Amino acid sequence: MRIALLGAGTVASGVVRVLQRNQDELCRRAGRGIEVVGVAARNATKARQAIGAEPPLSSDFHALATREDVDIVVELMGGIEPARELVLAAIRAGKHVVTANKALLALHGNEIFAAAQTHGVMVAFEAAVAGGIPIIKAVREGLAANRIEWVAGIINGTTNFILSSMREQGVDFETALQQAQRLGYAEADPGFDIDGVDAAHKITLLCALAFGVPVQFERAHVQGIRDLEIADIRYAEQLGYRIKLLGITRRSEEGIELRVHPTLIPAARLVANVEGAMNAVVVQGDAVGPTLFYGKGAGAEATASSVIADLVDITRLHTADPGHRVPHLAFQPGALADTPILPMSQVRTAYYLRIHVRDEAGVLAEITRILAEHGMSIDALLQRPSGESDAHTDVIVLTHQTLERRMDEALQRIQALDSVLAPVVRLRKEELR
Ligand code: NDP
Ligand code: HSE
Repeated sequence: MRIALLGAGTVASGVVRVLQRNQDELCRRAGRGIEVVGVAARNATKARQAIGAEPPLSSDFHALATREDVDIVVELMGGIEPARELVLAAIRAGKHVVTANKALLALHGNEIFAAAQTHGVMVAFEAAVAGGIPIIKAVREGLAANRIEWVAGIINGTTNFILSSMREQGVDFETALQQAQRLGYAEADPGFDIDGVDAAHKITLLCALAFGVPVQFERAHVQGIRDLEIADIRYAEQLGYRIKLLGITRRSEEGIELRVHPTLIPAARLVANVEGAMNAVVVQGDAVGPTLFYGKGAGAEATASSVIADLVDITRLHTADPGHRVPHLAFQPGALADTPILPMSQVRTAYYLRIHVRDEAGVLAEITRILAEHGMSIDALLQRPSGESDAHTDVIVLTHQTLERRMDEALQRIQALDSVLAPVVRLRKEELR
């Protein structure tokens, strides 16, 4: 199989290295050799540093993506344009496509998969979610017997690396981010990592695969870790929780939840102990129960592992009748459901609140009264002792599950109390049972 790589950065370097190192083994698996016949890059010097001296370089991305002797185009540039146009051109030219570009698929996946369907080619994207973990294959094939109930995961290595460094080593946010960038984990625009956008791209793809719905990134609730304070990491710890940036998608009677936000999870859960750039995804199926997938979520060779698995899959399957291949989104294209994605106000979850209050009689009673009036039940309370000269303190409240709309209404009233001295910190909490 003749492969063209578009882009010659971190992931491309891993793909070239692993293909070279494991070529005999790969040939035994795939039934034929897999050879890189061209790499498109805009900066030849940088590209040579990444991919070495061997693969032929080109600066004409379009010509390489549509070249007659190329069987599979591997898009490793990132971003939307020109990646989208090049992927569509490759598909129209009858090439199979492998991509690690979750942003592209979360925004334009429906268009790209439809084009691939029309032209009878495969678009494989194992590397787009959770780096080296074969989670796409697991959800699409290994768990095909199940009615999937929910998926929750640590699916951004950069933010998990930052949260771990802050909690374990007391490293500040900026230093931890710079380390993640040096290690090749972060997106070209690290704002995508920190603000939860990258995790939202990935959970959007998992949502489509788990529930058989179109890709709907625009409906996802997205919140990152930029505003997370070390105080909340410490309070959560005192209450037996860790804070992780989770992507969550869950099916309920009303519709599908699709959200990314910092989340308290019990420290005893395996997933709470996933540290550094490691990723973990929990998938709850009705037949299998909970399953946990763990591994490197980013980095050159870990991601190359997924890209090359896709290359092997396509090599094995490319002569199969297109109607007999695994559907791109796990369900047959004509069988996708129109189940609505729920707005955040209709999501049910539990909460962590940090309320900075004047330390005087009756304050706690006022807060708990408002919560009770909005039908919320308290799970735990923590009040930090105020210092001798301090007239104010933090009250931490953990609630049981409630509707987000109810919490919004209660918080408006709590915030308006004279005794509340700062904006209330609200984080969501999931037990992941
Ligand atoms: P890099 O930035 O390291 O490499 C991107 C490559 O594409 C570089 O050669 C870059 O050129 C080139 N490129 C980018 N934009 C353009 C453009 N507009 N025109 C021409 N060339 C362009 O990215 P990564 O290898 O880290 O990521 C590649 C893809 O893989 C992304 O979609 C990313 O989200 C995804 N991914 C990355 C992971 C990781 O751990 N890094 C893990 C999983 C997925 P130049 O060097 O000149 O900028
Ligand atoms: N920037 C991404 C992360 C790369 O940190 O997880 C892997 O998709």
